[in-house]
Amino acid sequence: MSLPLDMDPSTTKTNAFPTAPSTHQMTRRISRAVVTLATGTVLLAFFFLSGSPPAPPAHLQTTISRCSALHSKPGPPPGFHERTVSDRFVQGTRPVLIRNATVWTGEGVLEAGDILLSGGIIQSVGHLGLAEGLEKEYAGADVLDAKGAWVTPGIVDVHSHVGVESVPGLVGAMDVNSMHGAVQPWLRALDGLNTHDESYKLNIAGGLTTALVLPGSSNAIGGQGFVIKNRPTTERSPSSMLLEPPFNMNGTAVDYSVPPRWRHMKHACGENPSGEYGQTRMDTFWQFREAYETARRIKVAQDNYCDAALAGKWDVIEDKEFPDDMQWEALVDVLRGKVKINTHCYEAVDLDDFVRLTNEFKFPVAAFHHAHETYLVPHVLKRAYGKPPASAMFASFARYKREAYRHSVFAPAILHQHGLPVVMKSDHPAIVSRYLLHEAQQAHYYGLPADVALQSVTTVPADVLGMGHRIGRVKKGWDADLVLWGPHPLQLGATPTQVFIDGIPQLEDPQFSPKSAKRNSGPPHVPNFEREAKLAVQHEGLPPLEPVKRFTVDQGLVIFTGVKGVVLDEGRVAANADALLTVIVRAGEILCMSADQVCNEAYATGADSEVVDLAGGWITPGLVSLGSSLGLQDIAMEDSAKDGEVFDAMTSNAPVASEVVRAVDGLMFGTRDAWLAYRAGVTDAITPPQSSGLILGFSAAFSTGATGKLEKGAVAKDAAALHVRVTYASTVGVSTQIAALRRLLMPPAADEEVHGAAAHALQGTMPLVVHADSADVIATLIELKAEVESSIGATLRMTIVGGAEAHLLARELGEAGVGVIVISPRAFPYTWEKRRILPGPPLTQETNIMHLLAHNVTVGIGPQGTNGMDMISSWAVRNLRFDAGWAMLESDGQISEAEALAMASTDINKLLGVKGSGDLVATRGGGLLEFESKVVAVLSSARAVVDLL
Ligand SMILES: *[C@@H]1O[C@H](CO)[C@@H](O)[C@H](O)[C@H]1NC(C)=O
Ligand SMILES: *[C@@H]1O[C@H](CO)[C@@H](O)[C@H](O)[C@H]1NC(C)=O
Ligand SMILES: *[C@@H]1O[C@H](CO)[C@@H](O)[C@H](O)[C@H]1NC(C)=O
Repeated sequence: MSLPLDMDPSTTKTNAFPTAPSTHQMTRRISRAVVTLATGTVLLAFFFLSGSPPAPPAHLQTTISRCSALHSKPGPPPGFHERTVSDRFVQGTRPVLIRNATVWTGEGVLEAGDILLSGGIIQSVGHLGLAEGLEKEYAGADVLDAKGAWVTPGIVDVHSHVGVESVPGLVGAMDVNSMHGAVQPWLRALDGLNTHDESYKLNIAGGLTTALVLPGSSNAIGGQGFVIKNRPTTERSPSSMLLEPPFNMNGTAVDYSVPPRWRHMKHACGENPSGEYGQTRMDTFWQFREAYETARRIKVAQDNYCDAALAGKWDVIEDKEFPDDMQWEALVDVLRGKVKINTHCYEAVDLDDFVRLTNEFKFPVAAFHHAHETYLVPHVLKRAYGKPPASAMFASFARYKREAYRHSVFAPAILHQHGLPVVMKSDHPAIVSRYLLHEAQQAHYYGLPADVALQSVTTVPADVLGMGHRIGRVKKGWDADLVLWGPHPLQLGATPTQVFIDGIPQLEDPQFSPKSAKRNSGPPHVPNFEREAKLAVQHEGLPPLEPVKRFTVDQGLVIFTGVKGVVLDEGRVAANADALLTVIVRAGEILCMSADQVCNEAYATGADSEVVDLAGGWITPGLVSLGSSLGLQDIAMEDSAKDGEVFDAMTSNAPVASEVVRAVDGLMFGTRDAWLAYRAGVTDAITPPQSSGLILGFSAAFSTGATGKLEKGAVAKDAAALHVRVTYASTVGVSTQIAALRRLLMPPAADEEVHGAAAHALQGTMPLVVHADSADVIATLIELKAEVESSIGATLRMTIVGGAEAHLLARELGEAGVGVIVISPRAFPYTWEKRRILPGPPLTQETNIMHLLAHNVTVGIGPQGTNGMDMISSWAVRNLRFDAGWAMLESDGQISEAEALAMASTDINKLLGVKGSGDLVATRGGGLLEFESKVVAVLSSARAVVDLL
């Protein structure tokens, strides 16, 4: 049989199939099929059916379309950017003309730019001027004068569990990890996507417009992910949230005549899929190989089948169906290059394993997620099949488990230097994706260039998702997803003033703080961390963190020059508006402070003295950490690398369960989290024992800069406060917990001894610290306090830690003299008992902190942390300075810098009844709470040292 070929491609169009003739017609005439090949060349094949050829099967047309589409690559249809209306356009959306914006387009900056949004897309970007008739041309458009404010593309998150690990966290909304097998490529996150997750609107408040929703990482192959836009839809369905629904979202009925859209798949290596008993990394990689081998065989069978079909060899096909398997089709598509693989992978071993897998089965990886060690093995990434994967990372979230132990804040900058793409991601709600931009801000602080930092949450993730043709850039023809910012988006506390998704403004009545926002023209001038970044690589992720130089009493003086000011305890500020100060220090003690030569003349400096230029920096009180397990763990999720949980007095019969435990007995010094906190100006920590039960025990106050417990000044107070926790997330009810607390606190009968632990609290010598979030629980505690006080005739010193809903009782807390240490300082409804939040700007003008302060409540803040869980959150203590700075910036001038500093230091001491070490922290280039500065020294008179960091 000869097959005359018409090779003129100009007469044909990609995917232009003839309308389907019936099988009956087929047998009577020549059929023609237009066949698209992977190379993009087009082949016309004529099948002559003469003599007694094998009859074409009934499914001929479907088979030919399917086989023709076998090698087609996902992407937008041709001419996509000539569209005038988006497929996501919502009828009735008014066009918007944004005037005079400083536009960061994703590729550069357009000063005084104008952007026209209509039809759900960006119709034009540029300078429209003030031409006559302009109003007429854009009649009907809402005009928004940006007054020079920054505009960026919407923020894009490549790793979110929004809707599948829903917020507030409830058992009934956990659709993130299936426990039915290691390999489940057939599962689809879309099938569990909860449309009622509180996170969507909070995400918008952070400028997040698009997210890839992924299954969890408990399986080697956890299933398929889906790209959604964050806005509510009129249909209110999960399907209507999808951006470019993958071609087979409706199941097996696929229209092969249009180019396919990208599919997304979650894989995971390392500790999480190894979580099951007896499962190892070796098992996980065998499971990958076995699964991919299954897919490979199906692919080969399909290719053979289609080769025959497209060659008209019906005798080979006969009545066989296209070889397919619903369970494996998604993996076959991976091998066909139609699926973006997103792999949770931390360590060098996992990355190496996975790169080997990609080369064995020939498929590319879109991104390694978490990717904590990619900066140590850039060459492994460069060996990956296809092109090097992006690293989708956290900025500072680390050390919670072994495979996260060698994380470095310098990783984004190091990867970028190797020419590897960097993405900052949230793993929401691990990091709250509303604050994804803050991950990019931190990456920038630690050395990633400003443009690259912005790209790491816009253009690069858009490209990683295969959506770079429509999101991640401010460009004509792209989706109208934009964010208007107060200050430059890399400035601390940057908050959207408006967010557009598909051209629809998302904030109804945006609240923001024009007073405090630094409306300066660009990103912050961040310090230099090149030395630290080099050490991180040199030491394989575990660089020494001890002070570079420690000046003890026997050594010379440390002379700080260029000091802008000194904030002493109690907020006393020493500064000279006209000149920088010189401050002379010995053994942590300030000997002299002046703006002229007085100090230099008064003190003879020796060869062992050191001069430290602070370049306009400050000396301020060290911060105090409370609200994490700092000092009780090296690695939170390794039992052998932490102190561990106390017995729960409510449920345990163990003999020591009735004893009140002292954290001081389990303290570990020199943990990496403690040193990193110290290096970030957190000199003191107050940590209660770890417990999920009612009675935590006595907290210990200690120095984060001490190397051992027996060192001078290492422990400031061995039993600072008695800590209890009242929560709905307990094995016993809240009412039972309160009953137990009442019994502990009420005065004993005449013949009973006062309970040992409670006695201190009752005698007013020790605060009772209650970890609680629910307003209902806090109300009960306020009543209990009054009840106990009237019985004992004395004041009970009570402090709340957590206090997510405390703002609802601000007046009552103020009147009762109960202070609150707010954790997390930026509210998020992680759980039901934390759901009634004051979200802060741009959703509400006030925050929890501001509302409490307005009612004269003494407020402290703890680190932002992970899911508000103190057991995991010790990594976050180093960020306390930025948390305090942020709380100040969003307060619209209500909180001064001195007050913000006090909230993260002296006020915590006050609330916990601790004197504090009195350590001071020297910063270069700016104040402690800013991105412009770097902590360079700690002055400790309690420990009689000056540490140069
Ligand atoms: C744009 O905004 C800036 C800042 O408010 C202002 O100085 C400038 O005059 C504005 N330009 C135009 C063309 O409106
Ligand atoms: C899925 O089916 C719906 C109709 O039920 C259709 O509107 C939509 O375009 C289909 N989506 C895809 C990706 O095929
Ligand atoms: C807070 O204290 C100030 C000064 O003592 C007082 O004037 C103000 O009325 C108090 N505010 C509230 C809400 O109690």
